[in-house]
Amino acid sequence: MAPSPAISPNNTDRRHKAVVGLQWGDEGKGKIVDLLTAQHDVIVRYNGGANAGHTVVVGDQRYALHLIPAGILYPEKLCVIANGVVVDPEVLITEIDTLRARGVEVGDNLCLSDRAHVVMPYHKQQDAALERLLSSKAARSGGNLSIGTTKRGIGPAYADKVHRSTAIRVCDLLSSERLERRLRVICSIRTAELAALGVQTPPLDPDALTRRYAGLGQRLKPHIRDTTYLLHECLGDGRSMLFEGANACLLDIDHGTYPYVTSSNCSALGVPTGTGIPGRYIQEVLGTMKAYTSRVGEGPFPTEQDNAIGDRIRRRGHEYGTTTNRPRRCGWLDLVAVRYSAMICGTTGLACMLLDVLSGFDELKLCTAYRRPDGTVTDRFSPDAEQLAEMEAIYETLPGWSDKIDEATDRSRLPANARRYLDRIEEFVAVPIEIVSVGPERTQTLVKV
Ligand code: GDP
Ligand code: IMO
Ligand code: MG
Repeated sequence: MAPSPAISPNNTDRRHKAVVGLQWGDEGKGKIVDLLTAQHDVIVRYNGGANAGHTVVVGDQRYALHLIPAGILYPEKLCVIANGVVVDPEVLITEIDTLRARGVEVGDNLCLSDRAHVVMPYHKQQDAALERLLSSKAARSGGNLSIGTTKRGIGPAYADKVHRSTAIRVCDLLSSERLERRLRVICSIRTAELAALGVQTPPLDPDALTRRYAGLGQRLKPHIRDTTYLLHECLGDGRSMLFEGANACLLDIDHGTYPYVTSSNCSALGVPTGTGIPGRYIQEVLGTMKAYTSRVGEGPFPTEQDNAIGDRIRRRGHEYGTTTNRPRRCGWLDLVAVRYSAMICGTTGLACMLLDVLSGFDELKLCTAYRRPDGTVTDRFSPDAEQLAEMEAIYETLPGWSDKIDEATDRSRLPANARRYLDRIEEFVAVPIEIVSVGPERTQTLVKV
């Protein structure tokens, strides 16, 4: 038998890094991944799906990426959608076509795991129907249990992955016969389930779905690979990896504010299972955080400012969802939450984003502890949504700065009060800030040298 290729030796001379969100998403991961791609060879999405919306701004061009890694603008780099992602083939193909139409190369530089799970149309119907049902008046009598999902079918697709017998994987799209065999059973079950959820829809047609999804499989075929072996071969070749987290640590299914979370491990803990690369290879974890806090969808948010302050942050930060265009809820920076996420993710450095949005406030508040309903104080985060909802934020107040900072080039030249704000973050979280971002463009970035 021929020997296996040299696979993932103790390759410690190249640095491998994960970029993750430390809040409730939209921290600016897309901008940072694009920026850091220059220093890495392989950019890997390991979790989530088209619920993510990662923005990259280069000059007057703005790209919103949902499934394709934000490293795609560098044609010589390899972009990988690994096994932990749930892939909506129609969204992926539209994304490929849109990028190509804008002159971005998408060919051999994009690989998709044959074991990634597929988001099917009925997953999106289930997602929307369940949300509708939960937020309906009847359900409200027992409290609103809806999550405010992106309705991209993420939860139902991951649920099928766990159910196993009703799941479709990317490899299934490559055989019409195999796909049809699975869909015949799945469609009858799903039709009944959709009816029970109150969806008025004709019975799902396994033949039509097989034709449509086998066709999509053929379009994606040039990109489909066993990405686990591929990534280990890349490691063996000494290529450096950049893992791009989607969603964020406080939305992590195990460590986030359950049940108001997404359905994957979006903290750095998801990298090994979502890629097949053992955790010991990831030497650096860059935690991205906004200089304030935002959240889309339902769930507790102790520092939320549902008032003129929140409106001002939303307006200045253009805080509207990249995927759903929903207005994001905005509030002061919650350092208790960020420190918790930094702990879970093994964060070695911070990227503090959107600092420019805070220019012009007379004073700024930082949450450094919570008061429980019984009056006692804690500096620990509670990922239990009901407990967290009862917490009252306790703030430190720092003076603001009035100067615009979006043209700053060096952290040491920022206004003294902006530097003081950053110093306090570093001190509280006990992780160094490696990057400060003062605008959406690549160039509006202050990197510690
Ligand atoms: P992601 O999901 O973490 O990649 O973040 P999103 O792309 O959903 O949201 C971040 C938004 O902030 C995008 O519109 C970015 O272009 C923008 N952005 C990123 N960094 C900065 C910054 O430092 N300042 C400002 N004003 N906008 C930024
Ligand atoms: P990026 O990668 C912000 C939120 C949704 C909802 C909850 C569950 O752009 O930071 P889902 O559709 O995943 O079942 O929704 O999670 N959510 C995000 N919020 N940014 C994201 O991704 C998000 N991905 C999911 O708003 O509250
Ligand atoms: Mg986003």
